[in-house]
Amino acid sequence: MKIYRAKDYDAMSRRAAGLISAQIIMKPDCVLGLATGSTPIGTYRQLVEWNQTGDLDFSRVTTVNLDEYKGITPDNTQSYRYFMDENLFNKVNIDKARTYVPDGTESDSHRACENYNAILRAVGQVDLQLLGLGHNGHIGFNEPGDIFEKETHCVTLSERTIQANRRFFASEDEVPRQAYTMGIKTIMSARRILLAVSGEDKAGIVKTAFFGPVTPRVPASILQFHPDVILVADDAALSECDLPESGQL
Ligand code: GLP
Repeated sequence: MKIYRAKDYDAMSRRAAGLISAQIIMKPDCVLGLATGSTPIGTYRQLVEWNQTGDLDFSRVTTVNLDEYKGITPDNTQSYRYFMDENLFNKVNIDKARTYVPDGTESDSHRACENYNAILRAVGQVDLQLLGLGHNGHIGFNEPGDIFEKETHCVTLSERTIQANRRFFASEDEVPRQAYTMGIKTIMSARRILLAVSGEDKAGIVKTAFFGPVTPRVPASILQFHPDVILVADDAALSECDLPESGQL
């Protein structure tokens, strides 16, 4: 695992965006795995800026998102489809027909997951997978559990995750209790993984996930086994790790 240390959120966002843009420049028809949450917002803002100044071309890029709430429509402002449209897709020259997010309106969980697995198989290997990190070590919506789930599955969100996401909804009752998420095997199949983390509140889980044992109780810990992971984190998120300025694990 390579670790890039950034001084703050903005520097972390620029660094992450730089790595994504390098991927697009090297392979214009690449497949990007994308994430939601507050962490990647600055990264997407930077990518939009580079696209608008003509330095970055999304016209041949395909994207697959990690997850979506179950029982939510794309026009719901809290859906991850809406988030992606607002923060990236509507602002760059991407072909929206090649941007994929699990279908939160499909109430049959089995069908929703199988449909998304079929899409993932059809688009082929993800060249670069962007990830955020949940406070309990979740990636996508792979919550702590007894096993690492392999492919797209329906999850019941943990109380901690419901609380963390409550800030985006009018009330706690409105936070969906279930979600569809890409599985760990799919995430681990990406050629390269870019994990973006910011803030002191993530410092404990960064240490646990990347310096502790690999266990499904901390889903992100599996990333220790991936051959090409870049962690881009700000000083606050790395504050509990004993690291040099920038380094490699
Ligand atoms: C959500 C998303 C994750 C994201 C996590 C952290 O649960 N499903 O993909 O990484 O939250 O979010 P934030 O970046 O807001 O801390």
